[in-house]
Amino acid sequence: MGEKQSNLMDKIVSLCRRRGFIFQSSEIYGGLDSCYDYGPLGVELKRNIKEAWWRSMVREREDIVGLDAAILMHPKVWEASGHVEGFTDPLVDCKQCKRRFRADEVEGKRCPVCGGELTEARQFNLMFKTFMGPVEDEASIVYLRPETAQGIYVNFLNVLNSTRLKIPFGIAQIGKAFRNEITPRNFIFRTREFEQMEMQFFVKPGTDQEWFEYWREKRMQWYIDLGIRPQKLRFHKHGEDELAHYAAAAYDIQYEFPFGWRELEGIHNRTDFDLSRHMQYSGKDQRYFDDATRERYIPYIIETSAGADRTVLTVLADAYDEEEVEGEIRIVMHFHPKVAPIKVGVFPLVKRDGMPEVARKIEQSLRRYWMVFYDESGAIGRRYRRQDEIGTPYCVTVDSQTLQDQTVTVRDRDSMQQERVPMDRLVEYFRERLD
Ligand code: GAP
Repeated sequence: MGEKQSNLMDKIVSLCRRRGFIFQSSEIYGGLDSCYDYGPLGVELKRNIKEAWWRSMVREREDIVGLDAAILMHPKVWEASGHVEGFTDPLVDCKQCKRRFRADEVEGKRCPVCGGELTEARQFNLMFKTFMGPVEDEASIVYLRPETAQGIYVNFLNVLNSTRLKIPFGIAQIGKAFRNEITPRNFIFRTREFEQMEMQFFVKPGTDQEWFEYWREKRMQWYIDLGIRPQKLRFHKHGEDELAHYAAAAYDIQYEFPFGWRELEGIHNRTDFDLSRHMQYSGKDQRYFDDATRERYIPYIIETSAGADRTVLTVLADAYDEEEVEGEIRIVMHFHPKVAPIKVGVFPLVKRDGMPEVARKIEQSLRRYWMVFYDESGAIGRRYRRQDEIGTPYCVTVDSQTLQDQTVTVRDRDSMQQERVPMDRLVEYFRERLD
């Protein structure tokens, strides 16, 4: 990582903490490695991202429905899915300092920290285990799910039988997943607890390649619509040696993070692997009956699997900017209005002459539709800068002219241009620009 880019990560992490986007988990106890908490602005940003995903994947389509499955599932699920056997990373230990590393991340035979000798690689399962009920024995082991996908597969028949959906159709879910990563790193990029936004699309075998291509394009476009710069996005096709145990073909959507090009989302052709395995392990027929052709078959699955936290990091990294304005550095987050935590800042120019009362009224009227922030303290320039730093697209200022002609100034975050808008037209004005 170049110095400039590592600086950029430091700046993002520091802004996130300073302004209440993301904090280290359990900070007052020294923090818990690789766990993070979303603060008042971070939770809004993440919710907006998840809502944009849900809207485009579920609400705006008639062929995809939602699901919210439990995190704890029957342990057999993870035998059937292949995770008990195959969800592992090769790990090596340093014989001297006892540190652990992923075998593919250490070159040669010597510890990158102390230079000690490393053990042979052995497989380490990434699933978190816990116990269900009062007895802590083998029989009560359950896992925290390492992906949300399995909750969808085991509900395939429930959804099919309770709706009137016909293949092709999809089931979407947003939820937490857990992986005991050996080397979590890069802030919220790779953590042990994270959130996935996954969609499983059930198709007739033979049409899978076509749907795979469809979803690949569709998902790439979603990031562009979220305001991510297209030149920072690309596809990466998995070679034979990279494919997960369930996939016949896979593409990653990658983003150029400050630490390099990395996976943001995976699009996989999972074939009939998952449903066949669940049919075998549960003894329940998972075949679909096509009443038009009278055929019975196990559907193929095209999966789109995105990380909510990784998308937050992408949006933060892509939006961060520093500009020189009148000899000072302005930090500005160029969030797309759809994800910006606060949509409009409302200020009285000064704290007298009835301006705060008018500004409060405007705040109330806008709050019905959008997340707004009222601020009357400090110089107006400083208040604008504070909103720039958290990516608020617009600020409304009530000044002495407002009291005469009922207009306010609306300032645009990106251009810093101001225009006068009649107070009673503000809702319409923002509707055109924010929704
Ligand atoms: N169901 C398929 C699946 O889970 P994956 O490629 O292992 O596929 C999908 O994960 C996405 O989940 C990744 O592209 C990433 O965005 C997110 N993800 C995976 N592991 C993560 C971690 N440790 N921390 C944060 N996000 C993670």
